Amino acid sequence: MSAFDLESYLNTQQQRVEKLLDSRSAEMGTQVPPRLLESMRYSLLAGGKRLRPVLCLAFAEAVLRQSTVSRVVEDCACALEYIHTYSLVHDDLPSMDNDDLRRGRPTNHKVYGEAMAILAGDSLLTDAFALVAGGPEPVRGLLCRELSLAAGSAGMVGGQVLDIAEDRPAHIDYLTRMHRLKTGALIRAACRMGVLAAGGDADALARADTYGDAVGLAFQIADDVLDVTGDASSMGKPVGADAAAGRFTFPAVLGLEQSKQLAARKVADAISAVQTLEPVEGPLAALARYAVERSS
Ligand code: IPE
Ligand code: IPE
Ligand code: MG
Ligand code: MG
Ligand code: MG
Repeated sequence: MSAFDLESYLNTQQQRVEKLLDSRSAEMGTQVPPRLLESMRYSLLAGGKRLRPVLCLAFAEAVLRQSTVSRVVEDCACALEYIHTYSLVHDDLPSMDNDDLRRGRPTNHKVYGEAMAILAGDSLLTDAFALVAGGPEPVRGLLCRELSLAAGSAGMVGGQVLDIAEDRPAHIDYLTRMHRLKTGALIRAACRMGVLAAGGDADALARADTYGDAVGLAFQIADDVLDVTGDASSMGKPVGADAAAGRFTFPAVLGLEQSKQLAARKVADAISAVQTLEPVEGPLAALARYAVERSS
């Protein structure tokens, strides 16, 4: 067991992210139609684990060897959560997963209607890039590209399309590719962006890449497992929904135990990739474990 106190670390980092999201969305919202801003903030500020911004901050801090980070890093952390939140708002729509509960509250379309939910998602997606591009530092261009590739057709959106394809083969290779894209790509980008925004070198970037790829895949396998084994009140979203809807998941194809074992192997790979960045086990190792051992 690691002596690192994940619970207090997560609390501190989550509170830091909450404050950043609240202030950035208020600053950017002065010219926004009030109902749209309300709908965006309803989903954005509804809690959530904030894993992607926390990973971005953690990698930046590992590179800098200190907990004070630049505004570039903070902007990236917020932008990642903007994109993630938009993906959830759209994922829950009737034409997608048609879910009623998210982050312990009625889904965005249940409260604001489908049209506003689509538009709130569009705004979160688009505004994310204004956040990352919002300063003079040259690295911001590169960071926009990272985020765009992870979120777009070759990343999260592409993965969502693989998920709804009717002719998908019930094969582990297809499932792995789908999970890597729909969830893994943004988690990997969170790790990479933390390194890039903090001025890390090529070796640190390669390590963040390996870690992010492994944790990203493990995280979505755990999401599938939790839909079978989890508890709706701690998850803040329905459980059993995947099986009821006949969705394509790791437990459905590989079985529950093998899915858990695969996720655990990925976590071990991730931890060994960052040993030089974190010689004594700390936030990066603990966050990798948390990605699969979480209960929500
Ligand atoms: C849920 O993501 C959707 C997936 C990509 C698996 P999270 O489990 O990170 O959801 P929040 O942000 O904590 O609500
Ligand atoms: C969604 O996967 C991944 C996204 C890109 C949003 P799921 O459909 O399994 O996510 P949940 O279970 O609804 O959070
Ligand atoms: Mg889905
Ligand atoms: Mg869903
Ligand atoms: Mg799920």
